Amino acid sequence: MARPIAERVIEEVRLATDVVDLISGYVTLKKKGQNYFGLCPFHNEKTPSFSVNPEKQIFHCFGCSAGGNAFTFIMKHEGTSFPDTVKFLGQRAGIQIDFEEQDEGQARQNEALFHINEFAVGWYREMLLTEQGKRAHDYLVGRGLTSQDIETYGVGYAPPGWDNLLRQAQRTANDEEALLQVGLILEKEEGRRYDRFRDRIMFPIWNLSGRVVAFGGRILQDKQDAPKYVNSPESAIYLKGKLLYGLFQNRDEIRKQDFAVFVEGYMDFLSLASVGIRNAVATSGTSLTEDQARLILRYTRNVTLMYDSDSAGSAAALRGADVLIEQGLQVLIAKLPDGHDPDSYIREQGAAALRERLEQALPLFDFKLNQLTAQSPEQRSEGIRSLLESLARMRDRIQRSLLLSDLAGKLHISEKILWTELETVIQKKAVNASHRVSTIAERLTDLSRVKGHSRSKKAMDDLVRILIHDWSVAEFVFNHIELEEVKDSDKLPVLTYFRNQFKSEKRPSESELLQRFSEVDLAEFIVGEVNKELPQVDFQRWAADCIAALKKEKLQQEIATIREDLKQTELDAPRRAKLLGRCIELENEKKNLF
Ligand code: GTP
Ligand code: MN
Repeated sequence: MARPIAERVIEEVRLATDVVDLISGYVTLKKKGQNYFGLCPFHNEKTPSFSVNPEKQIFHCFGCSAGGNAFTFIMKHEGTSFPDTVKFLGQRAGIQIDFEEQDEGQARQNEALFHINEFAVGWYREMLLTEQGKRAHDYLVGRGLTSQDIETYGVGYAPPGWDNLLRQAQRTANDEEALLQVGLILEKEEGRRYDRFRDRIMFPIWNLSGRVVAFGGRILQDKQDAPKYVNSPESAIYLKGKLLYGLFQNRDEIRKQDFAVFVEGYMDFLSLASVGIRNAVATSGTSLTEDQARLILRYTRNVTLMYDSDSAGSAAALRGADVLIEQGLQVLIAKLPDGHDPDSYIREQGAAALRERLEQALPLFDFKLNQLTAQSPEQRSEGIRSLLESLARMRDRIQRSLLLSDLAGKLHISEKILWTELETVIQKKAVNASHRVSTIAERLTDLSRVKGHSRSKKAMDDLVRILIHDWSVAEFVFNHIELEEVKDSDKLPVLTYFRNQFKSEKRPSESELLQRFSEVDLAEFIVGEVNKELPQVDFQRWAADCIAALKKEKLQQEIATIREDLKQTELDAPRRAKLLGRCIELENEKKNLF
């Protein structure tokens, strides 16, 4: 998606927003000396370690080291994107937010998609209350949902028939193309259009701004050939792996309780909500992604996974746990009796019993350990390896080593043996480091796959990214790269600034960066990076890959120029030999890069 806001507007909003005034709306602040102090809204604490500096217009928490400026505060607190944050703060300051022309197109298009989804929500809800929808309504009530729950979560009904929604859209002059783009209707080869959701209970899916981006549709009565759930396809406004169902409604409660319950299904989520457990989100039956882990991290570090008790559910929970652990979350696993999911358990045993199960949830490592005791020796060594795999993903080394001693005691295995094994696992990961770097960096960069100029552009982006995350790599970077030789890139000014800071032995701060690089693209990039938690990787090695890519491209260009020269027919022999020699030299240099 394009950046919808003009850069001067960002500057204006920045100037119009006082960070003390803004944060006072969320945190009770008391002045002490030059700064203000209060209870940190980003972690649980009893004594204030959250400070706001009016002069620098930044905040910092000494407890959890959250920090940033007005933009980052809102992004972190509200979970909004950078453009949405600027819009929000702009409104607050009474600044008219203009959209740049080209981006206005994109924003308007998205608006049309949100709008069509909202139209569909309204209509599906209406249908649930008609005579035709009675069966669906009865079904939901039969499953324990009150009318209030149904309304709160916008549950509706898509009646049977091929084109009810389509015709309703036509009657009310709603945009048919938008219906197609969000996948509410499908098109046959002959161009005939029809509804995707027919005779299904409809669960709207919200993004963090409270807009409906997609639907999950449940069949009314389980049938042989029909899938139980049909979901909207991904679209310009819906990226499955970046969203958690119900986070929009429950995020405040998650922050307040400082823990989130992850369940698999829409119905699980709704059942929990119906008995007043409002710190859950649903993963909708797909594997947890890194993005989702980082998303929940904005609200809490503590997650309890309560998945279906079948083997697929447990396997999914353990896989999900590893993804969460890798992002630094503390993970507990709650177990349900065989054959149950959270929804069926509540219906059968009641809310109190479910709460008890949540309270009895075990830390991932204890859970895995308990599994071991029931197993045969072969299974056990497999299980221990899986434990070590999870340990290897932990970021907190102190916690990791504490867990390892604990494990050694409980397993009656010498700590030394476990350490050696753990190291093997970690090393195996490190051997794959270059591979790993490219997987983390996949969306960010995959140097081997990107071509030519864009490859060096990615490398420049990544160098900025790396230095934002790990300033200790600066020395390595600036000892190995001559910025004068680097091709022009929008990140060149940032790297140049970094180099100057490095030379004068200063470490750039986020707010300085944002003051200096307030162009929206760069600001968004920087704010995004500052808020992002990358997995522990070998940043220096990643930097080395980037530098190699930059050098390689430069060498390739020189080689290409020489090859062009060599094509000239009037070239005399000595000159030709010289050029060839240079060419070979350059080729060798290229081979020897890192
Ligand atoms: P109930 O059976 O009504 O209790 O629904 P549930 O929410 O418990 O569903 P279940 O545990 O079977 O599946 C968990 C989640 O996986 C669902 O909420 C869906 O998001 C997803 N899911 C389940 N079945 C399908 C399917 O057939 N297709 C797709 N695309 N997703 C599914
Ligand atoms: Mn279920």
